[in-house]
This record gives sequence, C-alpha cells and structure tokens, in this order.
Amino acid sequence: MPFPGRKFLAIFGLAGRIFLSAPAVGAQTATPLAAAPGETNVPLSTLDLGQMLQEDSSPQANRSVMGRFLQISGKRYTNGVGTHARSVLWVNLRGEARRFTANVGIDDEVVSPIVQRELRSAYELGMPEYRLVNGRVIFQIYGDGRLLWKSRLLQTGMPAEPVAVDLDGVQTMVLVVSSLGDAINYDDADWADAYITMRGAPPKAVPPPLEDSYVLTPKPAAQPRINGAAVYGARPGSPFLFTIPATGQAPLQFAARHLPRGLHLDPDSGRITGVLTRRGEWHVTVTVHNALGKAERDLKIVGGDTLALTPPMGWNTWNVFGRDPDDAKIRAAADAMVASGLINHGWSYINIDDCWQNQHSSKDPRLSGPGRDERGRVLPNRKFPDMKTLCDYVHQRGLKAGIYSSPGMYTCAGYTGSFEHEAQDAQTYAAWGFDYLKYDWCYTTHSARDVSLFEQRRAWETMAHALAATGRDIVFSLSETLDVWPWAREVGANCWRTTGDITDTWPSMDFIAFSQNGRESVAGPGHWNDCDMFVVGKLGGGRLHPTRLSPNELYTHISQWCLLASPLLIGCDMTQLDDFTRNLLTNDEVLEVNQDPLGRQAHRISKTENVEVWAKAMADGSQAVGLFNRGEFPERVQVAWTELGLKGRLAVRDLWPQTDLGQFAESFSATVPRHGVKLIRVRPAARP
Ligand code: GLA
Repeated sequence: MPFPGRKFLAIFGLAGRIFLSAPAVGAQTATPLAAAPGETNVPLSTLDLGQMLQEDSSPQANRSVMGRFLQISGKRYTNGVGTHARSVLWVNLRGEARRFTANVGIDDEVVSPIVQRELRSAYELGMPEYRLVNGRVIFQIYGDGRLLWKSRLLQTGMPAEPVAVDLDGVQTMVLVVSSLGDAINYDDADWADAYITMRGAPPKAVPPPLEDSYVLTPKPAAQPRINGAAVYGARPGSPFLFTIPATGQAPLQFAARHLPRGLHLDPDSGRITGVLTRRGEWHVTVTVHNALGKAERDLKIVGGDTLALTPPMGWNTWNVFGRDPDDAKIRAAADAMVASGLINHGWSYINIDDCWQNQHSSKDPRLSGPGRDERGRVLPNRKFPDMKTLCDYVHQRGLKAGIYSSPGMYTCAGYTGSFEHEAQDAQTYAAWGFDYLKYDWCYTTHSARDVSLFEQRRAWETMAHALAATGRDIVFSLSETLDVWPWAREVGANCWRTTGDITDTWPSMDFIAFSQNGRESVAGPGHWNDCDMFVVGKLGGGRLHPTRLSPNELYTHISQWCLLASPLLIGCDMTQLDDFTRNLLTNDEVLEVNQDPLGRQAHRISKTENVEVWAKAMADGSQAVGLFNRGEFPERVQVAWTELGLKGRLAVRDLWPQTDLGQFAESFSATVPRHGVKLIRVRPAARP
C-alpha cells in the first residue's frame, strides 16, 4: 500500500494478521504459451525475489504483496509475484530467453472492505493520504537498457493487461513497476501468470550493476568565502552562539559591523556569543579576510520567539551508534566536525539520540539503575558521566548539542521517558546546556488516553511550553512518524518527521524523497518537515558498513533533502569521513538551497513513470530545480520555464560542479543517470 506506519500498527495490533486469512479458493490459472521442445517456462515467482528493489514491504511469490491470493479485477491467479510500486527486478537471461509472458495489474486487495475500514481509521487519525484508495501504476520491461514494453496507466479495478515480449538475444531484462500516484496510494501490483521461457538453465535475479564513485564538489578556494545561513534567530535573554562558517586559507580573521548590543564576535574563531538584550532585527555586516583577500556578507540576526529560521544542520548518533552512544563518541564526533572542516560549511548540531538514560529492564551494569534521582531529576546512564561537561566540550568547539526523549514512560528503545516530568526534564536539559530536543512518540499509553489529535497535541504542547520556559534556546523536533505535519507547527515544534525510519537502501531513500509533495504548504522559517537523517558514509545497524546507496543515489539524497528544506542530520561515523562523503556534505552552493532564508520547500513540477522535476523558489528570485531520474537507465529530463512560472532567457548554473551552463530560451534538459539528479539554479539572464 504502504499501510500506516509501524507505530500505528502496533497500536491496533494489525500487522499482517488481517491479510493472511483467505485461501486462494477457486483460482483460475492462465497458462503461458506452450513451451517448444528444449524450452521451459520458468515462473517468475521461482526467482530470488530478495533481489527485488521494492519501496514498501516485500515481494511475495504466488501471493499479493499483503499475503493474500493474487487477484486482478475479480480474476484470481495461482502463480505470479505480488509487489508494490515502485519496484524493480534485474534478471540475467544470458541471451538464452525466448519470451516473457504475464498478466499485470493492480491487485484487488486494496479495495477489500476490511482494508477500506482500516484505512478509514488511519485517515481519521490525521493521515490525509489514506483517504484515496486508488493505485496508479505503469509496468515496464527493459531488455539490455531498451524499453521493450510498457503497460497503459493501470488503476485499481481495471482488468489485467496481457504481456508477451520477445526476449531473443537479451542478456539482461529489467522489470519495473512505477507509481503514478503520489507514491503512497495502494500501488499493490501483480505480475500475475508471469513466466520466462528459457532455452538453457533458469534465469537469475541479480543485483543492479555497481557504479563508480565520482566527486563533483570543487575544493574550497584559498580566498575567503562566507558560507551557511544568512539569517539566524534567537530569543532575547537566552545564551547566544552562532559560529560564522567560512572557508579559505588559514588563518582567517573575522569582523562584524552593526552587531546588536549584548553580542560579541571573537575575531579568530568567528564565534558570536553573548545575549540579545531586546527583540528586533539587525543587519550585521560580517567580513572575513586572510592573506589572499576578503569576503563580506550580510547576516540578519532576529531577536524574537522563533528558532531555526533555516533548517538545522548537524549530526545524530542513531544511524551509526544506535543503542550504544557514549560520552567519548559524542566528543569524537564534535572534534571530527571541526577537524573535517564541516563546521566551516554551516554544520553545527551534535545530537545524542536515544539510550543516554538508564533502562529500567537492563541487566547491563552501565545502563541499569533508577531512571531518576530522589528529586525526580532524570539520570544519564554510566556512559554519560557528566552531561554538563560534555555540552561545554561541544560548545567550546563552536558547536551545539542535542538530546532525545519521548513523552511516554519510556523512550522508543525502552529508556527513561519524560512522562510527568516534562517541565523538570526541560529544565535539566537547559541546565546541562542542550540546544536541541528530539522528542519521539513511544510508550505513550499514559501520556495520552488515545491517539486522537487532541491527546497527541496536548503531549507535544506540554514539552513545547516547558522548553520555552527554560530561558535557553532549544530547538524542538518531533520524531513522530504518524502524520503530525498538518498541525505540528501549531504545537510549537520547529521540525517534525514526515516519514518512518530511513535505511541506507534505494527503496527507502527513494520512497521518502519522492513522497513529500503537498507538505510544502506547512514549511517555512522556524518550522520544517523532517525527512529523517542522511544515510551517507559509514553507518551502523549491526556492523559498521559503508552506505549501500550508490554514488548517484547519494547525490539524489542530498539534493532532494536540500530542495525539501529538510533538517540535515548526518547519520554516519564522523571520524571516518571519506573524500566522497565530504564532497557530498560540503558543497556550499548545494547547501545554500537548503539554507535559503525564504524557507520554501520544493514541490513537484512534473512526473512521468521514471522522471520527476522539483523546484524551490529562492529568496533572490532564482529557483533551484532538481531533474531526477528514478529509473534504471539514463533518461533525458526536461523542465520548461513556463512550468516554473518563468519566461524569457534564463541563466542556468549546475550546482554540484558549481559551473555555469549558459542561457536557455524556453527550457532546459539534461541526460540524467540511473537514480541520479541534475541540480540546477535558474535565474533571469542579465541583459547584454
Ligand atoms: C524512533 C525514531 C528514530 C530513533 C529511535 C530511537 O524509531 O524514529 O529516529 O530516534 O526511535 O529509539
């Protein structure tokens, strides 16, 4: 479908149960063409379906994706593969296949009454996309990179479309199901009655080919350059810390004109500290110079109630250290943020995720113990001997520190939660020196009577008020994966998750990247949709391993998170950044798209079965545009200026290599590699 997130399922105990009951009674079997002598009809369902790249749940042999019988428009099939768009299967045929036959369409399971009922509950719980039960897919078959066949646009309830494709001489066949809806609406797709007619040994499902990595980001110039956010918000009376991110040959010297009263700039480190004494807006002129020259830029400081005027940029422990963060790892990450130079591109938060508290049920001596002291103050576990000193360590490096909790009795991993201690916990975080709180939604049966909007909002608001009362600027980030985005801003959140937990796989990242359309209406300075953390570099989740995303997929990942104005939180081991990962995270023209002061989130301009164009209006009147190829082979992707609401000649800049591509009269197009992107910025061309 996909179905509502795992937390929803956990609440209702639904997972899988309701869908597995009905046996395939009275199924009709369509047969493939009779195999000639020396040929065999190999059912697609006998291939290793573990190789299928699929965006929701797992493909099923001879079953629908939800584990029921295969059925399209009232007709049942005993044989085939049930999948969910977007899905891709690469098959090695070695030139020994004759043909592929199948009947394809959307499985009837999405309109079964029981599914309808559960979807209605999801919708009523505030998940608007569950309103429409309407799958929309296109099936495609490629042979050695050439499109051999493509279905009509198939929708829920339409009869199956028969397929018979000649495969003579084809080495590699690729089966694709693309979603033409908004990527989330019930695209349960069946390759029913699917057979590959072979002359030799059976075909083999294989992983897609590997790509070479390539660095696009130019090395920073030796001349000074000021990077990162050009606007920064703080509350009057709160401790102020803003490190001016700048690159250039060391040593750099910083200066600032028109700094508001109460603030002070350290000329060597570029750190602005102090306390704003009143509300207001100040246009500070920041300069940085070295032996080779000087750079100057406006920094707007806004003294008011709103934090995170641009999306927060930083690092978080969860994707690499999971349940095992400790003091030394946080210090090492802070050191690496400085030593790697990332701090000079605007990266600032060092965030501890779950598992810094004691765990009530743990037998591990480092984690066991009371959750709180006799005065109710939350206790860090033994791996965090002194939170205040740790925060000081982070601040001394010009960085900020983040922490995690949940409104429940326990956090999602079962550690002490903030239930009935919200105000006290907020005070504790502030006293320790934290600047960011990620607040989850687990073990909430006591904090909320039910999952109604009212109950959820009450729990969030309690913490938002508690944080605002601390006298410290603490960014408030909701980690709830139920759909809180339509109203999260109203409860005082600065950012909120719009997705489940990301994994370092193409289906996971691609699904998140392209299912955000429509949410741009709620994004803006101080309030952002959060697409979850970057799965780049070396990640954990068991063994430390390099991200499984390919280089092109990684360019897509960073480009789309920047276009979507998502908070940017690096999830990898900061002490093991390789050149390629550093190239991904330090491209100032790309990061500028994310940090643009206008604070718009990109929306989708166009979409076909494999390509999408997204655009984001920028403060200076230009637009950042992503030309994406979600397909398996290179595609020509085009954007017409009229689609952007623009006309005339526009100058186009290619943001990853930071090069001008020239002026274009009506449109721009580029050939984009498999799973890749061309990220451009377009602006009216200067008159000659
Ligand atoms: C949830 C969140 C993750 C992480 C874990 C910690 O799953 O979505 O990002 O914070 O909890 O337990």
